[in-house]
Amino acid sequence: MTHTILVVGSINTDLVTTTATMPKGGETVMADGFAMLPGGKGANQAVAIARLGGHAVLAGRVGDDPFGQTARHGLQSCGVNTEHVITTPNTASGVATIIVEHGGENRILVVSGANSCVHPADIPQSLLDRAALVVMQLEIPLDTVMDIIARAQAPVLLNPAPARKLDLAKLAGLAYLIPNQHELATLTGMPTVRMDDVVAAARRLVRQGIGIGIGTVIVTLGRDGAMLVTRARVAHVQAPVVQAIDTTGAGDAFIGCFAQTLMQTGDVDAAMARAVRYASQSVTQFGAQASYPTASDFTPAPDTAG
Ligand code: RIB
Repeated sequence: MTHTILVVGSINTDLVTTTATMPKGGETVMADGFAMLPGGKGANQAVAIARLGGHAVLAGRVGDDPFGQTARHGLQSCGVNTEHVITTPNTASGVATIIVEHGGENRILVVSGANSCVHPADIPQSLLDRAALVVMQLEIPLDTVMDIIARAQAPVLLNPAPARKLDLAKLAGLAYLIPNQHELATLTGMPTVRMDDVVAAARRLVRQGIGIGIGTVIVTLGRDGAMLVTRARVAHVQAPVVQAIDTTGAGDAFIGCFAQTLMQTGDVDAAMARAVRYASQSVTQFGAQASYPTASDFTPAPDTAG
């Protein structure tokens, strides 16, 4: 049986420049490459789910401009259901200006455009009711995210990116919260540099005593893999060593693969382990969606290869 994974989130066009050196303030630097690629955290996560054979329905907004049309067609060609992607009149589509340094590190500036118009009424209750999992990020209005957390019948996975402070009490009942280290620090106000800091901060989010009650926190750690923290246990998955070309959208690759594998297997640990490998493989290619392998192109885990 194929489960519907509803992703409510942003759709952007990524304007990506690659460079050996980041310019400092007031400085001009000659860069070496440019590409216009599909992006947006919501769209990226939906594409990763679809590439891995999942049934991804994306709810969001594009503007009535060529970027919006191209984004919609791109999503459809990846197998994402776009029936709930609304074209907003007299509005520009979301864009992200991205600078990728040699070695893979990136800096991203997002202009929300139509993403800032995503309204609770865009997501009808009937759509929420037929989802087996609801996946969201923070590139659409926070009121919409909170409304959907309150109305969803299915488990909700929140990827609190980009980082912002949230009223943690309003996240009560979340099934999965998946921040990176920086987002975890912003959410908790605690240090998250060392591994024991990460565990302490994640524990704060799952601890019943402060009434938050988030089921599972998974902290993505880049080249250090990911850390799962529940009330009962902690588990760390190491990432394979890879040569990073571009880390853009690696977090979204993790979320998409985690969501799809969880729906396939019901096994959180298997989903986290597979998502770490999927995100690691994605950073070896350029772009966000452009770097997400299909199930058949995804390198098997060493113990299942051959
Ligand atoms: O997570 C990566 C994404 O963040 C990019 O695709 C960009 O569009 C921004 O939304």
